[in-house]
Amino acid sequence: MRFAYGATRIVWLVGPYAIKVPRPRPIRPFVRLIQLLRNKQVGAQLRTYDENRALGALKYLLAGLRANRREFRISQGGLCSKYRLAPVIKQMAWGLIIVQERGLPLDSKTDLSDHPLWLEMVAEAKGEDPARKQFALFGTRPLLVDYANPELSVFDQAAGSR
Ligand SMILES: Nc1ncnc2c1ncn2[C@@H]1O[C@H](COP(=O)(O)OP(=O)(O)OP(=O)(O)O)[C@@H](O)[C@H]1O
Ligand SMILES: [Mg+2]
Repeated sequence: MRFAYGATRIVWLVGPYAIKVPRPRPIRPFVRLIQLLRNKQVGAQLRTYDENRALGALKYLLAGLRANRREFRISQGGLCSKYRLAPVIKQMAWGLIIVQERGLPLDSKTDLSDHPLWLEMVAEAKGEDPARKQFALFGTRPLLVDYANPELSVFDQAAGSR
């Protein structure tokens, strides 16, 4: 049993399961908000979450919950085999908890270039190393375990509204 940490979610890896819960963000967002205010970037940053700044702030604070709900909807949309995604087995408490199949860490030699979303993930994560962190090995197959980012527009239809 161990824990892994993403920017928006904490992942409890136990037996064959990866249990994802939103990361509490009470301090980080305020530090970040102060930095953004200093740099006068706050409007632009919040608008990456929503055109409306107030809604953007709310979506930012709820990012982990929204990621869980989006991942579950995409998985339920029957896209796991086409896009090689790790299936989400169950959602509980409106997305406060999701249970995903657990994979093993990739070794540094695993080739991801033939994964259908590899190039999108590199573009979204802005680099190969951060993109690799979003995959895990299931047997010999690498599957994408984090497909919640709204920038992955291939899933817009399956995921419904942002
Ligand atoms: N199904 C899984 N099997 C094995 N490990 C996993 C699984 N899901 C997540 N992890 C591990 O937990 C980490 C964080 O999970 P995830 O990427 O889903 O969270 P996040 O908060 O959305 O991440 P990000 O920081 O990319 O926004 C992953 O980088 C990976 O190491
Ligand atoms: Mg991630």
